[in-house]
Amino acid sequence: MRVILDCDTGHDDAAAITLCLASKDIELLGVTTVMGNLPLDQTYRNTRDLIAHFKVDVPVLRGSSDPLIRNRWVGSEEDRGRFFPDETLIYQDEMDLDAVEWMKEQLENSENKVTLVPLAPMTNIAKLMTFYPDLVEEKVDRIVCMGGGYKFGNSTGAAELNIYADPEAAQAVFSFGIPIVMCGLDVCHNAFITKEDYYNVLKSNKNMASSFISQICEASFAFEERDDIDERFKLWKRPGAIVYDTVPIIYLLHPELFNTLPASISVECESEFCDGMTVCNVSPRSEEPKIHTLVLDLDREGYINAMKSILDNSSI
Ligand code: RIB
Ligand code: CA
Repeated sequence: MRVILDCDTGHDDAAAITLCLASKDIELLGVTTVMGNLPLDQTYRNTRDLIAHFKVDVPVLRGSSDPLIRNRWVGSEEDRGRFFPDETLIYQDEMDLDAVEWMKEQLENSENKVTLVPLAPMTNIAKLMTFYPDLVEEKVDRIVCMGGGYKFGNSTGAAELNIYADPEAAQAVFSFGIPIVMCGLDVCHNAFITKEDYYNVLKSNKNMASSFISQICEASFAFEERDDIDERFKLWKRPGAIVYDTVPIIYLLHPELFNTLPASISVECESEFCDGMTVCNVSPRSEEPKIHTLVLDLDREGYINAMKSILDNSSI
């Protein structure tokens, strides 16, 4: 599988990148970066740190720092720090190419089809589709994303952050005509990792990849347990850590672990209350063409075992 990841690298994107690097079944062509949870400068820097840490030859590209047309910012300006503050990292040379132009070159030069995996606002992907529609149609087999939700949102009651950050970009991508597998909040909230899962199954310092996933899990547990969480936020308390962006990666490798429905999916861009909502039509009675796949649930134990097996067999 030839894959391009598009990330707003904070913790969960970094875990997803790590799984791709660790998997023998994924050829990671590169990682493009975009604003989202964090500003572009930080998502780009974090991604470069990660690639330098693993000492792999994978290009990292700067993409969009703002949404397509809106003046909207949904992420955090606060710098949450570096992954490897005590390590001296040796970086690959920066590429003098924008993420969209780099993706175009990759598609042009690829004999086989490529899978795009956006784990962040879809601004870069929407630009690629707008500037090079024929190339995308010819060379992209499908998109597997983290974003949206069937039943609820997290940025608002209706909208998930990756979509809410740039609804017009997401709508351009969902309406383009290429099949999209949407791993939204519904499946991700069922993909929690408990401390028992972590200590009994996942935790290992076998190699750099497993040590880094341990670092991410421990940071997620600490985040859930921090004492500045007020009483109301505890309504959202989960049985474990959720590492959202790992879900599409495990879907790519083990689709049999997931429950899905064919769907037509559109993004609301004009509503006062539902702005950025992914409207998913799964009704068998509706004749709307259902070219997308809505991922709703998963075999949670299978998901954790799959991560464990990827990490155990990793060469990084
Ligand atoms: O809503 C969760 C998503 O927002 C994840 O992709 C996370 O990394 C952030 O981008
Ligand atoms: Ca992300």
